[in-house]
Amino acid sequence: MQGTVDPVLLKKIEALRKSLHYHNYRYYVLDDPEISDAEYDRMMQELIQLETSYPELSSPDSPSVRVGAPPLDKFETAVHSLPMLSLDNAFGNSDVLDFDRRIKRFLNTGENIIYTAEPKMDGVAVEIIYKNGKLVLATTRGDGIRGEVITSNIKTIRSVPLVLREEKNEKIPSLLEIRGEVFISLDGFKRLNRDRLAGNLMPFANPRNAAAGSLRQLDSKVTAKRPLEIFFYGVGNLTDVEVPSHWDLLCLLKEMGFRINPLIRPKITIEEVLDFYKELSEKRNQLDYDIDGMVIKVDDLSMQKRLGATSRSPRWAIAYKFEALQETTRVLNIEVQVGRTGTLTPVAHLAPVIVGGVTVSRATLHNEDEIERKDVRIGDSVLVQRAGDVIPEVVKVIESKRTGKEKKFTMPHRCPVCNSGVVRLEGEAATRCINTNCPAQIKEGIKHFASKGGFDIDGLGDKLVSQLVDKGLLVSYADIFHLSMEAIESMERMGAKSAENLLLAIEKSKKISFEKFLYAIGIRYVGEHVAGILANEFQTLDRLMQASREDIEAVEGLGPVVAESIVRFFQQKENRDTIDRILDSGVKIISKGPRKSGKLRGKIFVLTGTLETMTRSEAKEMIESSGGKVSTTVSRNTDYVVAGGLPGSKLDRAKNLNIEIIDEAALKRMLSSGQ
Ligand code: IVH
Repeated sequence: MQGTVDPVLLKKIEALRKSLHYHNYRYYVLDDPEISDAEYDRMMQELIQLETSYPELSSPDSPSVRVGAPPLDKFETAVHSLPMLSLDNAFGNSDVLDFDRRIKRFLNTGENIIYTAEPKMDGVAVEIIYKNGKLVLATTRGDGIRGEVITSNIKTIRSVPLVLREEKNEKIPSLLEIRGEVFISLDGFKRLNRDRLAGNLMPFANPRNAAAGSLRQLDSKVTAKRPLEIFFYGVGNLTDVEVPSHWDLLCLLKEMGFRINPLIRPKITIEEVLDFYKELSEKRNQLDYDIDGMVIKVDDLSMQKRLGATSRSPRWAIAYKFEALQETTRVLNIEVQVGRTGTLTPVAHLAPVIVGGVTVSRATLHNEDEIERKDVRIGDSVLVQRAGDVIPEVVKVIESKRTGKEKKFTMPHRCPVCNSGVVRLEGEAATRCINTNCPAQIKEGIKHFASKGGFDIDGLGDKLVSQLVDKGLLVSYADIFHLSMEAIESMERMGAKSAENLLLAIEKSKKISFEKFLYAIGIRYVGEHVAGILANEFQTLDRLMQASREDIEAVEGLGPVVAESIVRFFQQKENRDTIDRILDSGVKIISKGPRKSGKLRGKIFVLTGTLETMTRSEAKEMIESSGGKVSTTVSRNTDYVVAGGLPGSKLDRAKNLNIEIIDEAALKRMLSSGQ
């Protein structure tokens, strides 16, 4: 076979593979790509094409294996050569100080112990084995002794190196058993569940279940489509390498091509560990992935060896868990709320319970199918969860606490607010009130219109909107601009001063960007992100109103459902009249003008860390629509680095290169003055 291989072709394929491995490393491990995604994709396509035409040249370590292998009938299992242990838990500072004292006693030393502290990823533990630098086997943790073989699935994860990097004359170990945690980011999880719902599939309960389910697929082509990521945190057997500390080991692993969590705090005292815990638990909500605590590890490897392990867990490490974001409580009642689009959402009223420091007395049950699936009944004891700043939800019923007195809930056949009929369309999870004049829909629509992402009218709160609608003073959001001083003043708890302030806020809101306007008018499927894309592409309301389904669908990032919804919205005379009334009352839509003429024209931005009021893609969208560019790499050409919470290494680089560092608020100021 070898004799028939064209050496030029082979060289070409090998060069492509090498290059793709390198760019993978830059992107996933260093978070510092050198080439654009498009260029990467072109190289990958070229490689896949060559390998398909010449199957005799395919290789198990080719970057193209990321697309998945043929399906399996069942998982094989394999024994871990060193067991994958668990960790002991600490629940308070005193447990951690006890741990530190125990270690000192065991090592018979009075000196301070140096630790490395790591976020404890809430994902799935795996072990991956490399022989002579090549990935040969990957397994789940299983019961700690024996795990399932998931090699093809692991290979689909882009941040897992298929071959180890050779650098600085460092010897490639003949055996490396590396361990890490596979996870799905919160953003990836949201997208995955959105796609599943759209495809009528059951959504995953949480990112960890989604990661576990994705890893345990017999068909790795399915796994390849899931947004799996990994951070590595330790090793089993490792030959040919001598390092003195855990932190040195992690640095070496990074050089070899493994992705290491940038938040790890190396070489700190036990007091600093406690400070870091506080810092991390406060920033936990801003991270784009779930962590459930911190792992504290003795840094010195010779000390680790002396400390050893019990049959269950090592003596040199402990998990310091965060406060639970789940609690149990009782469902007192289930009521139905009617939203802006008429969707009936069942909400559980709970016996108040403190979850992660916040009192929770209501939790969403999403829709009829969810209630059925979880079989939540009035009177049930349930597990509730609060994650980030999202609405608390019921995770599951604690069936063992059932008494038989619980009452089943049925979705009402009439809208609980206006008593009109409700419908549930084929293929939709939501039940909707069909009356577009339903006061609940009107109130929610007005609140949305006046919210921060829309007209941002200060002082037009929920209670006031509710009263104004009930009194017939607001029938549509266009009426906001026709409210009189007398009308506002006649509302409960409204003095002359607050009425005056509200009128000023309404006046001020009349200058609005096109994208905020589009968001405010409440077209179905047009959230802040889609509104941004539309504003960028169509620039003016007239152009968008004249656009056809095809015109809208042709825009990158928009699909047929959005296109259909927009065209329908503008076809309805009632909607066009409402818009005319808004514009007649003096509202001015400020278009940003073509991309290239924005205030930020030619300016290059790099984003690092977690932004609080916008996602990264929203920030990128906004910068680009003001004429700026967003790059992933900090270089001398960078004009500004926008640093959010827990910024990465890009911030250090920016400091070194003397590049101006701004925060999110400063970025927003630049954007609003750029419009
Ligand atoms: S070290 C001997 N480091 O936590 C065990 N584990 O309860 C050494 N985990 O199964 C584990 N993040 O899946 C370690 N930074 C981290 C971790 C981590 C998450 C998980 C891991 C392990 C479990 C232990």
